[in-house]
Amino acid sequence: MDKLGVGRENGDLIRIFPVKPSSPSSFTILRLFVLLIVFIFIFNFYSRSILEDEENLNLRLPSQDSVSKQLPQKLSSEKLWEAPFSDGLHPCVHPTSRYQANQGGDHYITVRSNGGLNQMRTGIADMVAVSRMMNATLVIPELDKRSFWQDKSIFSDIFDEDHFIDSLKGDVRIIKKLPPDLVSVPRARKHFTSWGSLGYYEEMTKLWEEYQVIHVAKSDSRLANNDLPLDIQRLRCRALYHALRFSPSIETLGKKLIERLRSHAGKYISLHLRYEKDMLAFSGCTYGLSETESQDLTLLREKTNHWKVKKINSTEQRVAGLCPLTPKEVGIFLKALGYPSSTLIYIAAGEIYGGKTHLSDLTCRFPNLIFKEMIASEEELKTYMNHASQMAALDYMICVESDVFIPTHSGNMARAVEGHRRFLGHRKTITPDRKGLVQVFDKLESGQLEEGPTLRHLVQHLHHKRQGGPRNREGAPDGIRGRARFKAEESFYQNPYPECICASKHHQHE
Ligand SMILES: *[C@@H]1O[C@H](CO)[C@@H](O)[C@H](O)[C@H]1NC(C)=O
Ligand SMILES: *[C@@H]1O[C@H](CO)[C@@H](O)[C@H](O)[C@H]1NC(C)=O
Repeated sequence: MDKLGVGRENGDLIRIFPVKPSSPSSFTILRLFVLLIVFIFIFNFYSRSILEDEENLNLRLPSQDSVSKQLPQKLSSEKLWEAPFSDGLHPCVHPTSRYQANQGGDHYITVRSNGGLNQMRTGIADMVAVSRMMNATLVIPELDKRSFWQDKSIFSDIFDEDHFIDSLKGDVRIIKKLPPDLVSVPRARKHFTSWGSLGYYEEMTKLWEEYQVIHVAKSDSRLANNDLPLDIQRLRCRALYHALRFSPSIETLGKKLIERLRSHAGKYISLHLRYEKDMLAFSGCTYGLSETESQDLTLLREKTNHWKVKKINSTEQRVAGLCPLTPKEVGIFLKALGYPSSTLIYIAAGEIYGGKTHLSDLTCRFPNLIFKEMIASEEELKTYMNHASQMAALDYMICVESDVFIPTHSGNMARAVEGHRRFLGHRKTITPDRKGLVQVFDKLESGQLEEGPTLRHLVQHLHHKRQGGPRNREGAPDGIRGRARFKAEESFYQNPYPECICASKHHQHE
């Protein structure tokens, strides 16, 4: 918990790291050094940095005085909305000169895609890459009908099937259905290993010696994030960002809704408010809820078989930064970032747990909350209403196009939208530092801190490098060994830099 030593002392403005002087002379040098660092820091705070890094600052609570003298009380409207500096970076998905056109094989891969909309989308993009690596023809994937969302949609209900097939013509042959003569031949039923490498999939081509069709039982997280050929990484981007377009009817309605939002206020924030029953039950986050509500959530967790972790200490979850922000916390957070209460906020979410009761803590600070139902007629939403994935597709579009995107929890949707926004030009995505914020919120709760300039400074400081600016994809944290490293790496689709985002035209065809 030493990340944010808020409180107690009103000393230096900021201390970058703990200073332990060993002798008087080194003490003086260290003091000078600290001063220099403070200057560099203040300079940085006002300038825009190109590469963002995770940082570990020891931040002390500054005095009210130093804050009002040195820091802007309110960020200019421009700063609130402008995208992070991304100096000429642009999407690059073209194959390299070594890339060979698809040859189209008579080996076939069938897939049952699993998860919610975004888990399926990234999984399908991976299956395109896997089909390429295994020199197979891909049959349009079957979608998950059994997940929590119980959506009966088929591929063509959500995606533009013909566009998908057509736009990947040069990469992988894709067909709508397995040829009739192959429907009844025995298939290799495979659970591909998670985070598989090129080597793994080359090895898997041995299956073709015995089988003509491989059935893949699960599509999520089957492909490694890193150490794949550039052309495979770019193919993943072509598949996800170009080929997997939503169906024409979803695209049309999505665009209409975005236009309506823009006509309201010009600019809007999209907030992925993951304060939904399934998430709270799954994560065991009951902070701020009543006893009855907590029991309700615990019960749901206990009876949901595929959620393996049953005993969760809500306090520990929250302190570790693993809980979605509550509506109240979101309100405090947005205010502290400097957004005026008139800001238009689109809520991307299913049903908010507790409905109005919990939402009112956000509405009282930001009354202009917009839900789908407020910008679309009943008639327009009718066909999507009972299809969670189709509703999620509308949210996805609105979030990608928003001026600012803020996810309250890290999940498939948050990652996919963040990555897509990076790809399209590093549009602003503010990722809450939930672990740091919990400490700030707790100080507020206990009265050690009040809403005002100090809080604003703390929150803005915690987030000035979490705005979605260009940076390399992160590897696994130190100390994680073996195969667990693959899982701990930042997802390729959360940050397809540098493979699919290039600095100059020159690099496009390297
Ligand atoms: C891919 O498959 C086709 C047809 O099955 C075959 O002609 C071609 O040589 C294969 N390519 C590679 C790289 O294995
Ligand atoms: C949960 O964890 C906190 C902090 O570690 C502890 O104080 C509390 O007693 C725990 N609660 C339960 C029910 O175990």
